Amino acid sequence: MTRNILVFDTTLRDGEQVPGAKLNLYEKVEIAQQLKKLGVDIIEAGFPASSQGDFEAVKAVAERVGNTSDIMITALARAVQYDIDRVYEAVKYAQNPMIHMVLGTSDIHVEKKFSKSKEQILQIGVDAVKYAKTLCPQVQYSTEDASRSDFEYLWSTIEAVMKAGATMINVPDTVGYADPGEWGHLIYRLNDRMKNTNPDVILSVHCHNDLGMATANTLAAVKNGADKVEVTINGIGERAGNAALEEVVMAMKTRQDVFNATTNINTREIMNTSRLVSSFMGLDVQVNKAITGDNAFAHSSGIHQDGLLKSRDAYEIVHPEDVGLDDMELVLTARSGRHAVKNALSTLGILPETDEQFEAVFERFLQLADAKKEVYDYDLYVIVESYYEATD
Ligand code: KIV
Ligand code: ZN
Repeated sequence: MTRNILVFDTTLRDGEQVPGAKLNLYEKVEIAQQLKKLGVDIIEAGFPASSQGDFEAVKAVAERVGNTSDIMITALARAVQYDIDRVYEAVKYAQNPMIHMVLGTSDIHVEKKFSKSKEQILQIGVDAVKYAKTLCPQVQYSTEDASRSDFEYLWSTIEAVMKAGATMINVPDTVGYADPGEWGHLIYRLNDRMKNTNPDVILSVHCHNDLGMATANTLAAVKNGADKVEVTINGIGERAGNAALEEVVMAMKTRQDVFNATTNINTREIMNTSRLVSSFMGLDVQVNKAITGDNAFAHSSGIHQDGLLKSRDAYEIVHPEDVGLDDMELVLTARSGRHAVKNALSTLGILPETDEQFEAVFERFLQLADAKKEVYDYDLYVIVESYYEATD
């Protein structure tokens, strides 16, 4: 049976941790409105304990975007009462609020970051969940640095916080250390135990991209039982970023045969969302970025252009319309063949009538294309006009 995977967007929290990408309240609310239009299930709107400005922004998102039952609004807390109170005070205005808390489970975090014993950290986590539950029915617990944690300790933590009332368990690959094989196996084992003990608790993953594997790891988790994915628009986030929403969602959509999973995302809103986030945060999207990069649907080689004009399936596995773009783009360069140039001239309504005329125009096109990187529509007008002038 096809599974519906929940999409938790953390563009406004992990994404906003990118240096220089700070948003004001108005920008946060605008992006949250667009994320709602995109169809995400959960928005993580910020880290309210970090500043009064962020608290106000999270509150505004809860009031103005969380005002319907089809979306959940959350924000991040450390496992301490002050943070938990700040989150609840900000998100309680949403119809569906959730408190999200994080505490490390790896030896590095327990011993080096907190200088405590594993038992002490586990107890802090349990007490924090119990406290959060007195405020809010929905509580997510994130086992920070899960990919470098001892499996049995990770499991005892998860078991204990579920018993204390956590409704979602988020397993982060905090430093992007995992590889898809081992990560899939870890999620398989956790899912197996959770389904036997607490089948209603949601199992989630949060993958970072330090080794370029965030999307692959997220998808490996989906294949192995994860119910929810934590992602950001354009993959922005701390250091090398997070798994990109558009990549994870379009991979599931395009390879349903492999993942057997869908999401509630309206994929036609992907480009609008990507552009809004990029412009408000002042972060350009890498040109060759999968799905949202400028070149993701641009074809420049003559062989590919010829194939595409015969059948789009030849070189297009994702249709640009499906992510909200008008059409594929055939970029005219010195590597473009006759088929693509003819197609462009015909679209502009300036295709010469005879083959002989076209050959002469194509020669001029090649000369210009050799001199320039790219030939644009206005260049084609000039080429055709100058050809007719020369032959008059
Ligand atoms: O990367 C991480 O571990 C996080 C947690 C807060 C989920 O961002
Ligand atoms: Zn993170």
